[in-house]
Amino acid sequence: MNDLQSLAALSDRFPRNFRWGVASSAFQIEGAAAADGKGASIWDEFCRIPGVIADGSDGQIACDHYHRLDADLDLIAGLGVKAYRFSISWPRIQPTGSGPALQSGIDFYNRLVDGLLTRGIEPYATLYHWDLPAELQRKHQGWADRSTAYRFAEYAALLAQALGDRVRSFATHNEPWVTATLGHELGHFAPGVKNRAVAMQVSHHCLLSHGLAVQAMRSVRQNLNIGIVLNLSPVYAASASPADELLAAREDGLLVRWYLDALLRGTYPSDILQYLGPDAPQVQAADERLICQPLDFLGVNYYSPIRSIATRPFSPSREGVPVTDMGWEVASASFTDLLLRLDRDYDLPPLYITENGAAYRDTIIEGVVKDEERRAYIESHVSAVADAIDQGVDVRGYFLWSLLDNFEWASGYTKRFGIYYVDYATQARILKHSGFWFKNLAAAFHRERISA
Ligand code: FCB
Repeated sequence: MNDLQSLAALSDRFPRNFRWGVASSAFQIEGAAAADGKGASIWDEFCRIPGVIADGSDGQIACDHYHRLDADLDLIAGLGVKAYRFSISWPRIQPTGSGPALQSGIDFYNRLVDGLLTRGIEPYATLYHWDLPAELQRKHQGWADRSTAYRFAEYAALLAQALGDRVRSFATHNEPWVTATLGHELGHFAPGVKNRAVAMQVSHHCLLSHGLAVQAMRSVRQNLNIGIVLNLSPVYAASASPADELLAAREDGLLVRWYLDALLRGTYPSDILQYLGPDAPQVQAADERLICQPLDFLGVNYYSPIRSIATRPFSPSREGVPVTDMGWEVASASFTDLLLRLDRDYDLPPLYITENGAAYRDTIIEGVVKDEERRAYIESHVSAVADAIDQGVDVRGYFLWSLLDNFEWASGYTKRFGIYYVDYATQARILKHSGFWFKNLAAAFHRERISA
């Protein structure tokens, strides 16, 4: 088969109503950190701590997407995809995390949503992709305090009101495990707290805020599709030793079952509660029922499996296997394993792959980025999703991470995930070879003409 035939064959493996899209998040691309009344976020503040961001950078300018909105929407349209996942910056809407919506913030997302719709692209909004208003952290301890869950529900209702006439799909949180564990237990991410009891309380408050937000949004509008996005991975023991098996079961419990049992069954896993002992969160009587709201979809972000090893919590790699520039193992079959396992163990709503992609070191030669490793990563992972669909898993869409190279959190601008290369000095965007490939996949799927 030649390349075009194999693209057509791959795209034929997906149902006709499947959605192809690209994904981004507000803090990672928007820049304009203090423009038009926007408040600071915990990431703006975290970046000021010396040594926490690999290249000492911040999100002040990022991809300057805020000022280049129309051109960037044209880039999405140019890919021929019909869906775009973006996140909304809470401090752009409520600078201090409560009170009325700031009109300039609403205006920006109105332009974004309207710009997508006029280009025939469906908006998929995420309400919280880690950029908490700094004021909520300073004055109220952020997610460690229960009141933040109620503030979040108010913010969610504001957006259901402002955008819900045109945006059907809203995810409440992106990866609450990251907010809790990387932000509050390991301290690698904002706000940089290192305390497991706090982290588990944060996790509970994020889940509670999800439940409250779903209720609040549904009371504003009845026709929304509301879900949540989790980072999920299969967790494998590093060896068959009982100690490693136990560790793997525990990491799976903390990463996967903690969230899915709460969201889909209304109860935290008892083995994990027992393991946590005094670090288990304070949970009020009705909380678990509140968390378990009917969901219209579950977003799955997958990059690599976890290889449980005592010295490195939640390790995404092992010795001697191919890894990306993040050091994350490349294992597409694990993606299929994950989707089959979720389907087997849970009564799932429809799934969307809300993130999947890879960082590699790109080089531009004469204006061209030949990123064959990224292209191969994407192709193998798209096929892994098709394998799961073949075996009966209801996956409705795939969003590639990411539209643009961007601010990769604690790695700053040192890691590139985009299918558009960003030259940060000039803000020029250059479509990488992986991007051409993805565009051709979308074209094959939509039966459009494929470009060479
Ligand atoms: C996910 C995040 C996303 C990006 C990718 C690489 O955990 O949701 O913002 O950083 O990893």
